[in-house]
Amino acid sequence: MTAMNARDLTIMYEGKVALEGVTFKLEEGETLLLLGPNGAGKTTLLKTIACFHREYRGELRVFDREPCEARELIGYVPQSHSLNERVPLTALEVVAMGGIYKRGFSHFKIPPEVLKKAEDALAFVGLSNVKDRLFRELSGGQKQRVLLARALISDPKILLLDEPLSALDPSARAEVSNVLGKIKRERRITMVITTHDINPLLEIGDKVMLINRHLIAFGRPEEVLKDSVIKSVYGPLARVIPVGGKLFCITGDTHLHRHGGGGI
Ligand SMILES: Nc1ncnc2c1ncn2[C@@H]1O[C@H](COP(=O)(O)OP(=O)(O)O)[C@@H](O)[C@H]1O
Ligand SMILES: [Mg+2]
Repeated sequence: MTAMNARDLTIMYEGKVALEGVTFKLEEGETLLLLGPNGAGKTTLLKTIACFHREYRGELRVFDREPCEARELIGYVPQSHSLNERVPLTALEVVAMGGIYKRGFSHFKIPPEVLKKAEDALAFVGLSNVKDRLFRELSGGQKQRVLLARALISDPKILLLDEPLSALDPSARAEVSNVLGKIKRERRITMVITTHDINPLLEIGDKVMLINRHLIAFGRPEEVLKDSVIKSVYGPLARVIPVGGKLFCITGDTHLHRHGGGGI
């Protein structure tokens, strides 16, 4: 079944075009890696799929519904999570909030069935051992895995992840990309993952989309990740190098200045 279908999708903010002419199709269970420089429109596309942003023209269908009719199918993991870290919540409570929010509870009391699901979700991301620790005291990689567990608790058919690897050191990146690989292998969740550094995710990408305020390329990784395509967005120094049967992309766009490390 087709999970997502966009035809000539153009997204605006108050009439001003942010992302133009995007056409792509994603089958259920496929993982799309969404690549593009800062300001390219990656977050804009995710928010439109999730119905957080509604100003668009063209066609966008999510499991053959309008995005706003498909909200309960979608789990969204925002880039810099909106959790207030001054509130001393445990890892387990943060995950349970995903279940409580979806059920429309207005007060924070965790029903036993939600607690059970939260424990299962934490076990799935390999964090049972820190369930009672305060979220704010966890490492960056652990926090990101907690947020994945929080998104998984409502059994989404689609996961939208906004730069889940940014601001993480290389070992935490591996931690999180391993969990993303496990989600892909063991659940049939369709994923759209935005990223600056595509290399740690290439193994799980069925499709790659490159955007820069409009669609540059969409297709299988080997179709999109070509020197000529990458150079057209990232400049003449960008390249794609085959290493041992795998591709490695050098784009020079890993936000070293912002996050202080990692990538090339
Ligand atoms: N709320 C908003 N109002 C107006 N313009 C916005 C808003 N959010 C994003 N934009 C614009 O849309 C473009 C794409 O932004 P964004 O989707 O955040 O890019 P990316 O996630 O690829 O860095 C940018 O030019 C940005 O300034
Ligand atoms: Mg963004």
